[in-house]
Amino acid sequence: MLRAVSVRQARGVVSGRSCKNLIGSLRSFSKIVSQVDASDDSQTGKFVNTVSKPYAVTTYARPNLVLTHGKGSILYDLENRQYIDFSSGIAVTCLGHANEELAQVINDQTSKLLHCSNLFYNLPAGELANKLVSKTRDSGAMKDAQRVFLCNSGTEANEAALKFARKYGKTINESKIEIITFKNSFHGRTMGALSVTPNPKYQAPFSPLIPSIQVADTEDINSVAKVISKEKTCAVIIEPIQGEGGINIVNEKFLVELRKLCDENDVLLIFDEIQCGLSRSGKLWAHSTLNESVNPDILTMAKALGNGFPIGATMITDKVESALQVGDHGTTYGGNPLAARIGNFVLDKLTEESFLQGVNEKSEIFKTSLDKIAKKYPDHVLAVKGKGLLLGLQLNNSVDSTAVVNKCRENGLVVITAGLNVVRIVPALNIPNELISKGLDILDHSLKQVIESST
Ligand SMILES: Cc1ncc(COP(=O)(O)O)c(C=O)c1O
Repeated sequence: MLRAVSVRQARGVVSGRSCKNLIGSLRSFSKIVSQVDASDDSQTGKFVNTVSKPYAVTTYARPNLVLTHGKGSILYDLENRQYIDFSSGIAVTCLGHANEELAQVINDQTSKLLHCSNLFYNLPAGELANKLVSKTRDSGAMKDAQRVFLCNSGTEANEAALKFARKYGKTINESKIEIITFKNSFHGRTMGALSVTPNPKYQAPFSPLIPSIQVADTEDINSVAKVISKEKTCAVIIEPIQGEGGINIVNEKFLVELRKLCDENDVLLIFDEIQCGLSRSGKLWAHSTLNESVNPDILTMAKALGNGFPIGATMITDKVESALQVGDHGTTYGGNPLAARIGNFVLDKLTEESFLQGVNEKSEIFKTSLDKIAKKYPDHVLAVKGKGLLLGLQLNNSVDSTAVVNKCRENGLVVITAGLNVVRIVPALNIPNELISKGLDILDHSLKQVIESST
């Protein structure tokens, strides 16, 4: 059978050479070698077209590229090509690929207890909830953080936040159910999270969504003042730095005024730090650096917490907790011992002072070079955006960010797009400095190639 042969062939290519040999043969990236994506009659093309694509639902647009493994900030594909990874699986693998210490932790936990349901307590989940609260408070963020609901993804963390907020509102009055969200925000793809993600491309095919959602503008506090009400609004959900929407840092003054409006109207403030949190901004939380009045009532996280293993969490204050009862929410897998054990390991690493210092140093290296690139192409690059290691190059209409992303891939660098024509850079937080400069050389070269080909 074609299918069986292809799977075997694909596996054979990977297992036929050891990871060690591959790393030994790591190209130095000193010369930029350009290779277009694998053809349909390559090993990759055969695997994609006979084994994978015909059996996967049509929800993703993907090039002919099959990743087989990674090490640190290098990825390897089925054709034995190597890529510098500036994407970390969309801001997830914060400690890099195939982290050896983490592999040992996983191995140890899988040999003890993988799953036990939420009918009972387990050690790693208890420790993780406790640690998230104490480390958050110690970091100067969310000073009233108190309790944690563990789940499996970002969208689920937001679903829990929205449900908790509705429950809180309803304890005050039955019609206090409205939620305010913002233009260009992204909160996930399940029905609740999608309902507060006001992007017609994502929402339109699935309407009607959940009702009682208002959309405001992060550039205009009056747009919130117009729709917020003590009688009807239960929560406002916002990313302190919008990720998918284009790496947009929300102005501190706006957040101070937003918090004030929430307090005046007894409305819960939800910070979605799923992409910008967990040390990506250079602090544990993106809101850690804000005026201390700007604390959320609910904080959601996911992505980096598992370094690639699915996990999410919703952290709340006692005020929110007071509205909850046994049976209000639940999950089979959330807080399972393996995910939670990984979360403990990752959180410890991410909060080491020297680690955070490294993130900030790497951010400076990136920003200095990105500024140079922006100056070099003033007719095409509008701005360098972002904070910490959540960065972006805002291009103007004369260059297409997708074309730049594709050209970078051909040249051995993985970057992704965001928002309206932004090239997004979200590497592992421990990416070696040498790979930063090599990757940025590839970005510079690729941008030049795309600009030249479009003029
Ligand atoms: C800010 C933010 N919230 C929520 C989500 C949804 O997370 P997940 O894809 O894990 O459901 C994402 C994913 O990109 C995100 O960036």
